[in-house]
Amino acid sequence: MMILPIYIYGHPVLRKVAQDIDPSNYPGLNELIDNMFETMRNAEGVGLAGPQVGLEERVFVMDLSPLATEEYPEFKDFTKVFINARITERKGELEAMEEGCLSVPGIHEKVSREGEIRISYLDENLIPRDEVYTGYMARVIQHEYDHLDGILFIDKISPLRKRMVRSKLANMEKGKVACDYKIRTAR
Ligand code: NI
Repeated sequence: MMILPIYIYGHPVLRKVAQDIDPSNYPGLNELIDNMFETMRNAEGVGLAGPQVGLEERVFVMDLSPLATEEYPEFKDFTKVFINARITERKGELEAMEEGCLSVPGIHEKVSREGEIRISYLDENLIPRDEVYTGYMARVIQHEYDHLDGILFIDKISPLRKRMVRSKLANMEKGKVACDYKIRTAR
């Protein structure tokens, strides 16, 4: 397995709309998935999407097991691969919760998202799935899914908060960012 560099805010690949892959004609898909998990865990993240490792493919991985507690035992086995995902339904009240992102290091801000989603996708064995998620799982899925559409969580924060983080973001665009994992900046 290989740790891939994580692309940082300001890199244009993070703003591209990712495309479905043809899983029957994608040699190295399993290796890519393994590398994405390795990269995500090395950076202590719980989700990682294709564009964050410089790809324009509609793939993301999640592993919520580090967050498992007695209160949230369902996270323990939550290791998932989403290929060619489509969110087909979003409902429930908007809930605000602090988020962060491996591509936007050092910034944590509240983002409002729907409490329930329905998503269809192929899993790591290319089996079609159609599932409903709520709560924190729905939040992380929506965050990763946004990456596939070139959307970052900081696009969704309040104008006031956006002003507060503007200089940090400007520094990231210039490549002035410190991280304890491997990164790639725009400059
Ligand atoms: Ni992210």
